[in-house]
Amino acid sequence: MSPSNAIPHLLDSAIFGSILRYREDRFRFLTDLADRGPILRARMGAFPLVLVTSAEISHEALVEKDADFMKGFGLSVFGRPLLGNGLLTSEGSVHRKQRKLMAPAFVQKRIAEYATEISARTEAAQAPWRDGETVDVAEAMMRLTLEIVGKTLFDAEIGHESAEIGEALTLAMQHIIGSLSSLVPIPPTWPTPRNRRNQGSIDRLDKIVYGMIREHREGGRDRGDFLSMLLLAQDEDDGSTMTDKQVRDEAMTIVLAGHETTANALAWTFYLLAQYPAVRARLEAEVDGVLAGRSPTLADLPKLPYALQIMKEAMRLYPPVYVFARRALHDVTLGGHAVPKGQMVLFNVAGIHRASRYFAEPNRFDPDRFTPAAEKAMQRQTYMPFGAGSRVCIGNHFALMEGQLVLTALAQRLRFDPLPGARRVDTEPLITLRPRGGLPMRAQRRAASA
Ligand code: HEM
Repeated sequence: MSPSNAIPHLLDSAIFGSILRYREDRFRFLTDLADRGPILRARMGAFPLVLVTSAEISHEALVEKDADFMKGFGLSVFGRPLLGNGLLTSEGSVHRKQRKLMAPAFVQKRIAEYATEISARTEAAQAPWRDGETVDVAEAMMRLTLEIVGKTLFDAEIGHESAEIGEALTLAMQHIIGSLSSLVPIPPTWPTPRNRRNQGSIDRLDKIVYGMIREHREGGRDRGDFLSMLLLAQDEDDGSTMTDKQVRDEAMTIVLAGHETTANALAWTFYLLAQYPAVRARLEAEVDGVLAGRSPTLADLPKLPYALQIMKEAMRLYPPVYVFARRALHDVTLGGHAVPKGQMVLFNVAGIHRASRYFAEPNRFDPDRFTPAAEKAMQRQTYMPFGAGSRVCIGNHFALMEGQLVLTALAQRLRFDPLPGARRVDTEPLITLRPRGGLPMRAQRRAASA
C-alpha cells in the first residue's frame, strides 16, 4: 500500500487506541467525528477499524461495491447465539433466498393491513395515562412496539410477556456490545459466567419464540401473518420447508429488529418535541385539523405530512441504528484508499447525519429539512437511518408507517414534558440508541383529546 493512499490515522491513546473513548461514550465519539476526516483508521483495543463518516464513501461501499463486503464481525459473531442465521446475520445465497422469501410480508399492500391494529394498540396504551402522570416514554414505546410486532407479524398477544422479552433482549444486546468493545474479546462459545448468563437470556427468548412456532404449527392453518408465511414457505427448487430452527432465527431477528428501533425513534421524537414547542404546536395543529378526535387510519397518513417529517428529522439527530459494520471480502479501494481483505469498516451514521457539509446547523431539530422537495434534493447517503444497498432495512416502510400512526395518535391526546429539574438526557448506545435510564416525562392531557 503506498503511503499516498494510506488511510489517515485517528490518534488517541497510544496503548489502547480509541477504545477507551469509544467505551465511555460511543455516541459522542461518533458524532464528534462528524466534521473530521471522511475516512479514518482507528484502533479499538483488539480491533483495527476503518471509520467512514462520508456519504460519498458510504455510497461507494454500500451500493457500488456492495458485493465486495460482507456484514461486520459484531453481529455475525457475537450476535450469532441470539440471531442465528436470520436475515440480519446471514450472507450470500442464504441471505438472498431468505430476503426474497420474506419480502412479501413487507410490501406496501401487506403492511397497510397492519395500520388498524397499530392505531388501536396505541389508543389502548395511552388510555390509562392520567393528566400529570409520569410516564417512562422509552419504556412505554418499547412495550407498545413489541405488542404491535407480536400481533401484526406473529398473531400473538405478547403484552403480558413484554417485560420478560424486553429484559432478556436488553441483556443479550448488552452482551454483544460488551464483547465488541472488550479489550480482550472472548469467543461466544466459551463457557464463561458472562457467556452462560447470556445463554440464559437467549433460552428465555427461545422458549417464547418456539412456543409461538408450536402454536402456529398445531393450528395448521394460514393465519395470514408473517410467521404462517415462514412456516408455509417452500423452496422453489426442491420444495423443502424451513426447519423450526430457521424459522426461530428469522422470528428472533424480526422481534429484535422490528420493535427496538422504532421504539427508540419514537422516544427521541417525544424528547425533541418537548424542547421545540413551535414544532410541537405545528404538529398538534396538523393532527387536530385532520383527525378531529378520531384515531388515525392509513387513509389519513398522506394528510399528516408534518408528522412524518418530524419522525425523519428525529432519526437524523438520533438514528436508532447509529453505526453499522461491514468486512472487506478482498482487497478493495474506498475513496481512493486501499482497504485490505478482512478489514472491518464502520459506517458512522450518527456522524454523517450531523456533518455540517451535509446539513446546515446540523444540531438543530428542523423537520422542514424533510419536505418532499427538500428530500428530493438531498444528496444520497447523507441520510441513512435504514442503511443502504442490498442490506437496506426490510422493515423501513413498516417502521415509518408505524411511527407516523403512533406519533399522531398520541400527539392528538397528550403532550409529554420533561419532569421539573430533569437533566439533559444521555444516550445509551446498545445495538440501537436508547435514552440512558429511560425517558421519564410528564403526560399532559390535551383539551382536544376529549
Ligand atoms: C425506525 C425503525 C428502524 C430502523 C432505524 C432500522 C434500521 C435498520 C438498518 C440501518 C438496517 C441495516 C443494517 C446493516 O446494513 O448492517 C436494518 C436492517 C434490517 N431491519 Fe430494520 N430498522 C427499523 C425498523 C425495522 C422493522 C420495523 C423491521 C421488521 C419488522 C426491521 C427489520 C430489519 C431486518 C430483517 C433487517 C436485515 C435486512 C437484511 O440484511 O437483508 N427493521 N434496519
